[in-house]
Amino acid sequence: MAGEFRSKIAGIGSFLPEKVLTNFDLEKMVDTNNDWIVERTGIKTRHIAEPGVATSDLALQATQKALKMAGMTPHDLDMIIVATVSPDQMMPSTACTLQAKLGCRNIVAFDITAACSGFVYGLSVADQFIRTGMFKNILVIGGEVLHTLVNYEDRETCILFGDAAGAWILSATDASYPNIIMSSHLHADGNLGDLFVLPAGGSKIPFSQEVLDNKTQFVRMKGREIFKNAVRTMTECCHEALRANNVNPKDVDWLVPHQANLRILESVASHFEFPTEKVVVSLHETGNTSAASIPVAFDMAFQEGKIKRGQLILLAAFGAGLTSGSLLLRF
Ligand code: UT7
Repeated sequence: MAGEFRSKIAGIGSFLPEKVLTNFDLEKMVDTNNDWIVERTGIKTRHIAEPGVATSDLALQATQKALKMAGMTPHDLDMIIVATVSPDQMMPSTACTLQAKLGCRNIVAFDITAACSGFVYGLSVADQFIRTGMFKNILVIGGEVLHTLVNYEDRETCILFGDAAGAWILSATDASYPNIIMSSHLHADGNLGDLFVLPAGGSKIPFSQEVLDNKTQFVRMKGREIFKNAVRTMTECCHEALRANNVNPKDVDWLVPHQANLRILESVASHFEFPTEKVVVSLHETGNTSAASIPVAFDMAFQEGKIKRGQLILLAAFGAGLTSGSLLLRF
C-alpha cells in the first residue's frame, strides 16, 4: 500500500574507462593551455572510452560492482533506468541493451533524457515506483560516452567532457528504516533550452552530409549563460531540499553536486552557505561526465572513505533543458 515503502541504497558502483585525456594532450589539439583549463574549470584529466565502447558497456561494469555490493544478481532486478544523452543508439534504449547484457528476466527498462540532471531524475522516478510498492529492486544508471558528441576543434566544449558510468540499486525498505531517500525535487525550464544543444540526429535535423559539413552532430554551448543558471538553479534546489525536510545545512555531511566546473561548485557552496570542504569534487580527474557525474563522484568519495553509511547527503544537479533537481538521502 502507498506510503509504507521507502528506497534504501542497496549498492553503488562506478566505472571510468582506462584511457586518460590530459590538458596537455588537449594543448596539442586546440588553442588552449593547462593553466587556463585548471584556473577556469578545475579539470585536469578526463577518461575517454575506446572506439566501439558504448554507454551500455560502461554501465555494465558499474552495474556489476553495484550488484556485488548489494549482494544481488541481475535476476533480482525489477526495473532498469538509464539516464544518458549518449545512448548506444536511438533505438532500442540503452536500458534494454543493458538488460540483455545482464541477462535479466522480463522486466521494465527505459532511458531518461534529462542531460546532466538525468541521474537525479532517474533516482526520483525509481523512488516513486518503490514508494507505491510496485517494484522492490531498481537499477538506476547515469552513463555517458560523451566524447562522441564533442567537437575536438571547439576549445570551449572539448576541454570539459569525459566518459563514465555510475550505478545505484534502490531497494524497497520499511518506511521506518533510517537510511532512505528522504525527498527529491525536479525542475525544468525549456525556455532556456538553446543554451546547451545537440542540434542534429533527431527528427528536426536528421543526419545528412550537411550535418557533417556544419558539424551539427556535436554539442553547442553558451558557457557563460549556463554557468550563471547552474549556480542559481543548484542553489535553489539545495535550499528546497532542506526546507522540505526541515534540515539545517550544518546537518548535511556531504553535498554531491553535478561536476561541471569547480568555480560553479564553489559559487553554489558560497550562496548556499555550505563549507567547501564538505562538497564532493571529482571533476579534476573526470571532467564533466553529464548524467554519470553524480554517481561517479559519490562512489569515488565512498571508495576514499569520505562518504560513509548513515551520513546525510544532498545531491544537486543541473543540465541541458535546462533541467535541475536535488535529492536528500541518508546513506
Ligand atoms: O553540464 C553543463 C555543461 N556546461 C557547463 O557546465 C558549462 C558552464 N560554463 C563554464 O564552465 C565556463 O563558462 C567555461 C569553462 C565554458 C568558460 O569559462 P569562462 O570563464 O566563462 O570563459 P569565457 O567564456 O568568458 O571566455 C573567456 C576567454 C574568451 O576569450 P576572450 O574573448 O576574452 O579573448 C574565450 O575565447 O577565454 C577564451 N577561451 C579559452 N581560452 C583558452 C574559451 N575557452 C578557452 C580555452 N582555452 N579552452
